[in-house]
Amino acid sequence: MLSKDFWNDRAIRHGHTGHSEPFLYTFDQEARKFAVERIVSHLFTENKDKALDFGCGSGDFVRILKERFSFVVGYDFAEKVVEIARRDSDPRVKFTSEIKDLRENSVYDLILSVTVLQDLEEGELSSAVKELSLVLASNGYIIAVEFFVTEEWKSLNKENRVTNAKWMEILERNGITVVSKHSFYNPIEAPSASWNEYNRNFFLRFVRLFRYTAFARKIFLRKAREIIQKHRDVLGVENNTYYIYVLQKAANAD
Ligand SMILES: C[S@@+](CC[C@H](N)C(=O)[O-])C[C@H]1O[C@@H](n2cnc3c(N)ncnc32)[C@H](O)[C@@H]1O
Repeated sequence: MLSKDFWNDRAIRHGHTGHSEPFLYTFDQEARKFAVERIVSHLFTENKDKALDFGCGSGDFVRILKERFSFVVGYDFAEKVVEIARRDSDPRVKFTSEIKDLRENSVYDLILSVTVLQDLEEGELSSAVKELSLVLASNGYIIAVEFFVTEEWKSLNKENRVTNAKWMEILERNGITVVSKHSFYNPIEAPSASWNEYNRNFFLRFVRLFRYTAFARKIFLRKAREIIQKHRDVLGVENNTYYIYVLQKAANAD
């Protein structure tokens, strides 16, 4: 597992916990936000009570969840990261780095995890899923935007990552079933038409020369949103190994 210090340091340097390259990060994060928003609105047609964003980072997804849920907990184990998320205060949101707050504010109708569980080692992943299943309502959902690998990938890349088969085993052990699995764009393995349009745009190529300025970031954000909304194609990309999992806790799993 990457340490708290790693994430705190990244958040202090960039103002968020994502990729350090602003051009790539902006599109990637907007694509994830688009996909999560879409899945949440399909799952919950009416407003619900409580949601948890596990590993909330600087809080981008909490802002999406609070549109649908009366109360949202944004939990992240890294204290400095939570301080950054807290800059956006709202009485319907609790940002915390205290694990006890997860239980005290439970139970949740939805738990979201965006690129958090994928970086845990097997034992840590197992404990985290157990904890999440304890605080999740019966029939409650988990949306997990996570990268788990095949055995082939693992031996090719020589990285000690949890495999998809192990992930499935851990979910099953905790009474959590897979409702659906949505393949998600990836700029290298499975670029979407939207990514290609963004990446090849001449004006953006010029702006990339100034990529670390606030002005450039503003332009990246505006263009990324516009292009993603135009194509609406970041979900359901073929030939891909990146997935967004929609999971559900069985009614009798407590
Ligand atoms: C790649 S960032 C993603 C942040 C956020 N979900 C997003 O997509 O903007 C991973 C985040 O997970 C947090 N994290 C990592 N391991 C964690 C754990 N075991 N418990 C809680 N948070 C964790 C890190 O501090 C970091 O903020």
